[in-house]
Amino acid sequence: MCGIIGYRGEREAQPVILSGLKKLEYRGYDSAGVAIIGDEGLGIEKMEGKIAQLEDALVKSPKSGKVGIGHTRWATHGEPNDVNAHPHQGCTDRYGLVHNGIIENHRRLRKELESRDHEFSSDTDTEVLIHLIEEQEGSLEEKVRAALGEVDGTFAIAVVDADTPGKIVGARRGSPLVVGSTDDEQFIASDVPAILDYTKEIIYLEDNQIVSLAGSGIEITDFEGGEAEATTRTIDWDPVAAQKEGYKHFMLKEINEQPQAVGDTLRGRGFTDGGLKMDEGELREKDVAKAEKIFIVACGTSYYAGRVAKYVWEEYLDIPIEVEIGSEFRYRNPPLDENSLVVGVSQSGETADTLAGLEKSREADATIASVVNVLGSTVTRRSDAVLYTHAGPEIGVASTKAFTSQLVALSLLGLEIARMKGKVTVSEAKKAAGKLSRAPGLLQEQLENVDRIKELAEVFYEKDDFLFLGRDVLYPVALEGALKLKEISYIHAEGYPAGELKHGPIALIDENMPVVALITKNSVYDKVYSNIEEVRARKGKIIVFTDELTEDTKSIADELIHLPRADKVLTPLIFTVPLQLLAYQVAVLRGTDVDQPRNLAKSVTVE
Ligand code: AGP
Repeated sequence: MCGIIGYRGEREAQPVILSGLKKLEYRGYDSAGVAIIGDEGLGIEKMEGKIAQLEDALVKSPKSGKVGIGHTRWATHGEPNDVNAHPHQGCTDRYGLVHNGIIENHRRLRKELESRDHEFSSDTDTEVLIHLIEEQEGSLEEKVRAALGEVDGTFAIAVVDADTPGKIVGARRGSPLVVGSTDDEQFIASDVPAILDYTKEIIYLEDNQIVSLAGSGIEITDFEGGEAEATTRTIDWDPVAAQKEGYKHFMLKEINEQPQAVGDTLRGRGFTDGGLKMDEGELREKDVAKAEKIFIVACGTSYYAGRVAKYVWEEYLDIPIEVEIGSEFRYRNPPLDENSLVVGVSQSGETADTLAGLEKSREADATIASVVNVLGSTVTRRSDAVLYTHAGPEIGVASTKAFTSQLVALSLLGLEIARMKGKVTVSEAKKAAGKLSRAPGLLQEQLENVDRIKELAEVFYEKDDFLFLGRDVLYPVALEGALKLKEISYIHAEGYPAGELKHGPIALIDENMPVVALITKNSVYDKVYSNIEEVRARKGKIIVFTDELTEDTKSIADELIHLPRADKVLTPLIFTVPLQLLAYQVAVLRGTDVDQPRNLAKSVTVE
């Protein structure tokens, strides 16, 4: 997820663009740049680093002009550096383009363009767009329309052309883009906060629309060139609220971004005869085929994602899969050697204990793959192969969209490992991966439970303890649900395998102990049910989340949330969202700092 902005009007464009980029920094902050059309043509300044560093550079070398675009980046293709920063140019220095989204067919387009003597300067997917545009004929709008007709994937773009100095052209498909205007100026941006200081009348572009900002005003057309309508709204948010798109907290915004985050993580990824393509590095078949054991190394929520993966991977892998907490793994003497496959899981890619576990693995000549959300982060540089989650920046300390994105990325990685070990064929891997395509829709459905979850929270938010129970693939989901609740509401909460109750925790059960029971119709359904009956017999308050709505589950529950049933690989995703919402609603009622809970940091880069 990146932030783009454009301005044309009577003011100097640079300060407008910089102030807008600062309001978009929550969308990405690993590099930034501007392109401004002045008397000497197009002036570009772009660099790795935060917007403040770009601002310092522009103080030394200001770009004068009243038309320009800007970008703040969250890298998805091409690590953060000066060359990969936007705006991008093509073969000439005439154009500047900024982009938010993922171009799925960028490799093929790049090959075709290079065969037509286009020379590329960056490793990004974005750069293909400006090379396509500069090949076209006609007006800037016509060039953009023709070029985007070649593109698969998602985009929100803004383009300037030094030979058409008074104009900015934008377009969107699958990534947000808004425009605004006053009497003599127009604005375009990824999101409202960037332009809210100048106008509250916001036009939300729809998918497959092209917008032209010119002296004559704003013109919106569709991809066939016909006139198009778009929604105009009067925004009464303050800029900070607008960064959360009206949500009260970044955590709630990010919970609601999960369909998009998981969709983006799955987008453009599939099994060809050559298997699943890694984003960086290479998972060598011979290394994986010889692996006699797998270690998944992670911390916190990422560790729970690894625990879920173990259950899913054991469906088709028959070698030991150990899921290890980084801080323990790094100091033990695990049986690591050149026949070990180690998988690091990390949202930030900077967690010290996970990194130490990977370094230990490297010293033992293990093969290392990683699932990471931040491009170019340290974990990726300690790995032979990387599969990125495309969850975008996760601002809330409590991990939500990164977790569900990790679940689908790990499912794909597990299938590739099984394919390399000859446990599944490419077509079996394709079929299994195809089940994941339902994930965004199922996640969206669970977000509609919010009112019922609020009711639940109102009943239980003053409790001092919670127990979360699950079996099989829902046991790590119970652990994650307990972590979400404890880390943002400060209520003591524990996740337990339901079968362990009689080995101790049942002593905790009384009428003051809410027990969250995760029950799915699988091979251990009856076992979980009888565990919950034990709780019922001791007057525990039982909150059942289940995909099996029967007289049994209704009779055993004090509160029941009915969830859709789906394939095992999707069940953790379905059950996680209501637990995230429960933790969030309880924390809001308890008045804690949801986005920055006490004592916690977003990335634990020290031991
Ligand atoms: C989860 O909500 C926490 N923020 C924390 O447990 C986090 O998952 C853990 O610190 C690991 O972080 P990472 O994914 O960036 O490595």
